[in-house]
Amino acid sequence: MTLASIILAAGEGTRMRSKLPKVLHPLAGKPMVWYALNAVKELVDLPPVLVVGHGAEAVQAAVGDAAQYVLQAEQLGTGHAVMMAQPVLESKADTLLVTFADMPLLRGESLRRLITIHASSSSPVTMTSFIGDQARGFGRVVRDASGQVAAIVEQADATPEQLAIREYNVSAYCFDADWLWSALARIPVSPKGEYYLTDVVALAVEGGYPVDSLVLEDPDEAIGLNNRLHLAEAEKVLRKRINAGWMLSGVTIVDPERTYIQADVRIGQDTVILPNSHLRGQTEIGSDCEIGPDTTVIDSKVGNHVQLIASVLEMAEVRDHVTMGPYCHLRKGAVLDEGVHLGNFGEVKDSYLGPGTKMGHFSYIGNATIGRDVNIGAGTITCNYDGEKKNPTEIGDEVFIGSDTMLVAPVKIGDRSVTGAGSVVTKDVPDDTLVIGVPAKTIRKLEKSDK
Ligand code: UD1
Ligand code: CA
Repeated sequence: MTLASIILAAGEGTRMRSKLPKVLHPLAGKPMVWYALNAVKELVDLPPVLVVGHGAEAVQAAVGDAAQYVLQAEQLGTGHAVMMAQPVLESKADTLLVTFADMPLLRGESLRRLITIHASSSSPVTMTSFIGDQARGFGRVVRDASGQVAAIVEQADATPEQLAIREYNVSAYCFDADWLWSALARIPVSPKGEYYLTDVVALAVEGGYPVDSLVLEDPDEAIGLNNRLHLAEAEKVLRKRINAGWMLSGVTIVDPERTYIQADVRIGQDTVILPNSHLRGQTEIGSDCEIGPDTTVIDSKVGNHVQLIASVLEMAEVRDHVTMGPYCHLRKGAVLDEGVHLGNFGEVKDSYLGPGTKMGHFSYIGNATIGRDVNIGAGTITCNYDGEKKNPTEIGDEVFIGSDTMLVAPVKIGDRSVTGAGSVVTKDVPDDTLVIGVPAKTIRKLEKSDK
């Protein structure tokens, strides 16, 4: 068996009322279409075929080489869309999995079960359905007196009796390829002028085949996204799934309803995540950390035994045993080495803080390289910007920066030196030197006994 996958993504998604193509709307940090591709990834023998139309260029740019593409220039229905893949797949695959790009909650495991059912069925079509209470415009699964699938009827074309049916068509199918290619050519045109893929079920039944349906146990898997209410609904289900996954693998999440972890994030064992924390993008959190409450970590790497309280980290790295917050902001390129402590209102950008360095109260550090065991007094500022360019500050080991020091970059402070409270340092300070004043002047060399 050679299995190929066709994913439909050509529709306009008008009900999203958006400039962005529907299938590119993000869910848990990934575009919607990513989930459909991910679900088939491990099942298929060929790269998935994505049928694109509306916003084709943007979709292709976002998905890249994770798929091959066919264009459906005019959206004449789901059956017509599948037909577009025929030239690409006709002689290459004997079994086809067909799904929609706007159903991000459908699990790969369910598709695997669908394929298994299909493999043991004598029918060229196997479909997927669920029993539920919310119609949401889904097609209804019509069964005959013996309970066999007879047809799928679209909501718009259903009789009142059919509308009362509570088994709904999910839109995930497995087909014998040769049969499907010939059946697509026989689909009648609908009252709306479209070619419905759903009509191939009735064609199989007419041909004397018993059509099996995989009935999903979890109706959440069938949530299709047509508007932004559905988007929020799907986001909630994904959040629940992601959080459950982390809890089962040893992470404590105190309030999973108010913890927002995106799909690519990694978290170590025995880390505790407190409410209103947002872990986003390519973020990695070590083990035994305490994250939150009210903490946002974006595209950042966090070591083990780290504590982050009410802080924001973006493209930053903090190593083991760092403690931070409340109200700190690490921006791009901030690196805090082991055991660094940031108290309240610290901002660090494009800077390295060496092991054991402490910055307890409201300071700004930008474009600085700071050694180990430095004490950065309250209100310290690296004046790194001269209106044109960013200038570097270098601070050695075991330096004591007095409260309210302005470090006017470019400037270097030698090892073990001290700046007095309120000094404005405009010139380099050698090792073991005390400077004070505005602008700061050398007072004396420091002896061991000064410390
Ligand atoms: C479809 C099914 C319905 C099912 C529901 C489940 C049909 C006719 N109906 O209805 O039985 O219950 O899904 O979600 O199949 N698309 C194209 N080209 C087109 C038309 C659609 O690529 O010409 C794509 C859309 O981008 C979308 C998917 O197919 O990803 C579904 O289209 P949509 O119009 O949303 O179908 P539904 O009305 O939801
Ligand atoms: Ca839909």
